[in-house]
Amino acid sequence: MKELIIASNNQGKIKEYKYILEPLGFNVLSQSEAGIDIEVEETGTTFEENSLLKAKAIYNLTHKNVIADDSGLEISYLNNEPGVYSARYKGIKTALERNKYVLEKLKDAADRSARFICTICYIDDSGHEEMFKGIWNGTIAECISGDNGFGYDPIFIGENQKVTTANLSENDKNKISHRARATKKLLEYLKSK
Ligand code: IMP
Repeated sequence: MKELIIASNNQGKIKEYKYILEPLGFNVLSQSEAGIDIEVEETGTTFEENSLLKAKAIYNLTHKNVIADDSGLEISYLNNEPGVYSARYKGIKTALERNKYVLEKLKDAADRSARFICTICYIDDSGHEEMFKGIWNGTIAECISGDNGFGYDPIFIGENQKVTTANLSENDKNKISHRARATKKLLEYLKSK
């Protein structure tokens, strides 16, 4: 069976990738299951750069099939911030505080458009690189709402949605999210191989 290493130890992420990729005949391993104990610094200025950095670091150690992803939120009114800094925006410690900060910044904004981005870098065992990108357009809500999800979900309303992402079930979010869109492209590519 072909081994495929996910450049992450996030159990939620690993579970999702296993579910999608094992039916294609991959034995999906987390970084720690593959015995890799490195933390790759996300020093890139784009999602593509960061996912490539992470995938390359693991590929160079193993020469096996590797997947690395990066994701975040871009807000037009904030010149596409927080972008690649979504997880650590302005050094603010909690997701709730980051959401409050964004709402305060946007209190007089006429343009509340935003998008979640996810890039997935795949490097196969011969070293061939592919990049897949998923974009989920939407707007920033007027106030925080909902208990599901994580990060910016309580303030993001996807296109054609009436409520924030934190009001959607995990199942519904996973059908339309930026991650779902990038993963679909990855899956189509792998199936075509
Ligand atoms: P990473 O790709 O796991 O490094 O995630 C980067 C950051 O982007 C997360 O910590 C969140 O703040 C934000 N983010 C990415 N995807 C989502 C999402 O689906 N919902 C809410 N926030 C997200």
